[in-house]
Formats: sequence, C-alpha cells, structure tokens
Amino acid sequence: MIVPSVIYLSYRLPYVAVVPGPVKDVIQKCLGELGLDFERGGCDLLVGGCGSVGNLKGVPGVYIFVDDVVLYVGETGDIARRVGGEHCTTRIGASEGVARLLMYLLDEACMQSDERIKLNVVDREKFIVNSILKPAVNKLTIITVTCPQLKNNGERLKLEKCLLTRRGSTGKTTLTALLAYGLAIRGRRVLMLDLDPQSHLSSLFLRINEVENISDGVLELATQGRFKIRQIDLGVKVPGEVGLIPSGINYIIDVFRGMIPAWDPQAVYSRLMTEPAINKSYDYVICDTPPELFTPTMWGLYAADYIIIPSNMEELSLLGVKILLKEVIPDVIMKSKKEPKVLGIALINITRRVKSDTIAKLEASVERFVRQLPSAIYSRVYGKLFFDTLIYRDDELRDLAYRPRRWEIPLSRVINRSSELRSEVESFASEVENRINNFKGMV
Ligand SMILES: Nc1ncnc2c1ncn2[C@@H]1O[C@H](COP(=O)(O)OP(=O)(O)OP(=O)(O)O)[C@@H](O)[C@H]1O
Ligand SMILES: [Mg+2]
Repeated sequence: MIVPSVIYLSYRLPYVAVVPGPVKDVIQKCLGELGLDFERGGCDLLVGGCGSVGNLKGVPGVYIFVDDVVLYVGETGDIARRVGGEHCTTRIGASEGVARLLMYLLDEACMQSDERIKLNVVDREKFIVNSILKPAVNKLTIITVTCPQLKNNGERLKLEKCLLTRRGSTGKTTLTALLAYGLAIRGRRVLMLDLDPQSHLSSLFLRINEVENISDGVLELATQGRFKIRQIDLGVKVPGEVGLIPSGINYIIDVFRGMIPAWDPQAVYSRLMTEPAINKSYDYVICDTPPELFTPTMWGLYAADYIIIPSNMEELSLLGVKILLKEVIPDVIMKSKKEPKVLGIALINITRRVKSDTIAKLEASVERFVRQLPSAIYSRVYGKLFFDTLIYRDDELRDLAYRPRRWEIPLSRVINRSSELRSEVESFASEVENRINNFKGMV
C-alpha cells in the first residue's frame, strides 16, 4: 500500500509580508493601536533601499529592513549607524540585521557550499559576503515610519513589538500534533516527520536534552543516513500508534556550516518509497514543515499525497494561503512524482467570537481566488474549501511547543482536560479521512 502522506503547510511569510500593500496595512494597524495614523498623527512613510537611505538621525521612528521577510526592525536614529554602516556594508557580526539575513539565506548558502568548501576560512567569509550577502542586501527594501510621538521610547518599542508579532504563525505544528493524536484515537498508525529545524513538533514529544542533539532524525532520513523512529507513548490508551522522526536544534548549525551539500527536493519522497519500516508499518505519514519555502519544506511537499493548509483568521496568513495556492502548489503539482491534492484549509486558533457568517465570506473569497487558477489546479483542490471542524483557541495549547517537556506529554494533558478540544480533534481526524476517501475536487 502506498502511504498517504499528509502535509501541512501554509506559506506564511515570517514576520510581515513583503508585498507593499500588506506591509503598509500592517504598519497602519500597528500605528492605529497606538492611536496614530498617517493622516492625523504627523507620521510619514518612506520606502527606499541601501542606495537611498536618508539621514534620519534624530528623527523619531522605526525602520523595517525587508525582503520577503522582515529582517530587522529598529529605531530610525539607528539608520546612519546600523543600516548605513552595518546592514548595507554587510558587516557580519556587527549587525543583527545581517545575521538574520544570513540565517534567512541559509538555503542559498548551502546550495553554494560545494564552491565554498574548497576555500580557507578567510576566503570563505569573503565568498559569503560578496557572493551571497551583498547581492541580497542590495535588493532589500528599507521602510521607515516616522512620527513625533515615537520619540517616547515606550511608544516606539510598542510599535516595534506590534510589527514583529504580526507574523501570524498559522498553527502547522499544533495541527500536525492534533491530527496525529486524532488519527491514533481512530486506531490508525501515524508517523510524524518534523521537517522544521526549529524542532517545535519534536519538543512537544521529546525531552529537550534529546532535541538538542539528534543524529538519527529527518536530516539523516533525507540524506540516506540511519534514522530512528521514536515510538511516542501518549500516556493514555489509544487504539492506534504514533511515531516520530524528529528534527534537532543542531540541524540549524549543520545547515549553516554547509555540512549538507546535496539538497535533493525529492529526497524524503524517495526514502519513504523504499523504507519498509515506514511504508509497511504506518497508515499515515504527517509532515510538519518550516514556515519558509526552504528545501525541507519541498521534501514534505514532494512526498505528499495530500496537502492541508492551516490558517487563522489573520489577513497575513490568508495572504500566505493565496500565495501558496497560486505560486507554490502549481509548481509542486507539475514536478511531484505523486498526484498531490489539497484536502482543504483548516481554521485553527480562532476565537469563539468569530461569526459563521464571517467565515463563510472568507471562504467564498478564497474560493473565488482558487477558481481563477487553471482548472488543472482547482480540480485538485477539495470542493468544500474550509474544513467544517474549527479548532478554537485554547489557552492551554498556546506556546506548548516552547515549554520544555517533562515527564508527561503536555499535549495529552491538554487534550484530555478539555472535552471541547478532544471532540474537535476527533472530528477533524474523521473529516480528514472522509475527504481522503471521497475526494471531490472543485468543478
Ligand atoms: N488552537 C490554539 N489555541 C491556542 N494557541 C494556539 C492554537 N493553535 C496554535 N496556537 C499557538 O499559536 C502559535 C503558533 O502555532 P504553531 O507553532 O503551531 O504554528 P506554526 O505554523 O507551526 O509556526 P511556525 O511557522 O513558526 O512553524 C503557538 O504559540 C501555538 O501554541
Ligand atoms: Mg511550526
């Protein structure tokens, strides 16, 4: 039997989205929260790049250093020093913005690691700066928002915090864990793959000292190495079983050092097809992917038979959904060796105040968008776009992955304490199986 792989992915851009419209919207919203705006608050918006950074020294405000993602938010007074002296000249080590840019470009750095590997340490740094960082920095946009009121440090920090927290993590990891749980309650054998070097899924189930250093996890799986499936004891009796191939925090460092020279986007697909320990022992493989479009994300997408897109109600993650459907899924459909289908959009982390009417309108608007895509694409998207099951916000679920695991699996405790959450989990798993067994694409 071919293993149905279910993958979660919502290409939400970490921090704020690039497209000028939404960035401006986010800025406006954040200013609004502080009681400021462009018309009445005496605020100004300036969009430029390294070539046009004006002298804003002493002008109160913040600047945002953006590519596809926001790489740094700082105060405008810093522009002369940080942007002019550090970001734009790409002085590694001097600037947090450059360090973030480098992290963001890791994938590109790895792609070129064959060339870099031959160099000595000094030449290697020069190569990274000149061939990877400088061309990227030159394309960056620098947005500055200035308002007299931002002279007050407290107000400015509030604006920075707002800009940075409007990132809208969509709930991929949470939904992966909940679905695995729900399918296990239904008696299924489920294997979770943590494809995200942030290792949030792994830290839900493994102790932190184990997650710190993994040498037999998904990276080894993808690079033909030795991998181990961790059997997860959920702490409660379920008829099915749950396994995990984890990610380790150490992977980020491996990637950074260029220790993984060959990135084959089909690597996980090929390994899953040939590993009896997986394809003969599990009914479902669920992949949790990183937030960026980065090779591990492609591993998941190319291995998938079905794609589930989690989203919350925030416009930024819905923008992510649209980008995913328009730009990414068509490419995956063309290049995948499978015939991936989109099972639907799952709303998660939504408040009970949201009216069904609002959800219906949102669904209709995303549906109109999908129908404008070629029929080869929309026929592979489940006709009823949104899952009926809504996973509401549950305070106990919040930030679970960031709290170190102790003797118990915190997720089991949370699910078993709340009859509402448990029934959402059961109903979602049942809906997923129904959609798989009776797939009806849009017509
Ligand atoms: N139903 C929920 N109730 C409360 N908090 C939630 C719920 N779903 C998700 N969250 C919280 O929202 C945050 C983001 O969720 P999660 O980590 O699952 O998103 P993600 O898409 O995997 O993020 P990333 O892109 O960083 O991997 C987390 O703090 C999580 O605990
Ligand atoms: Mg995650």
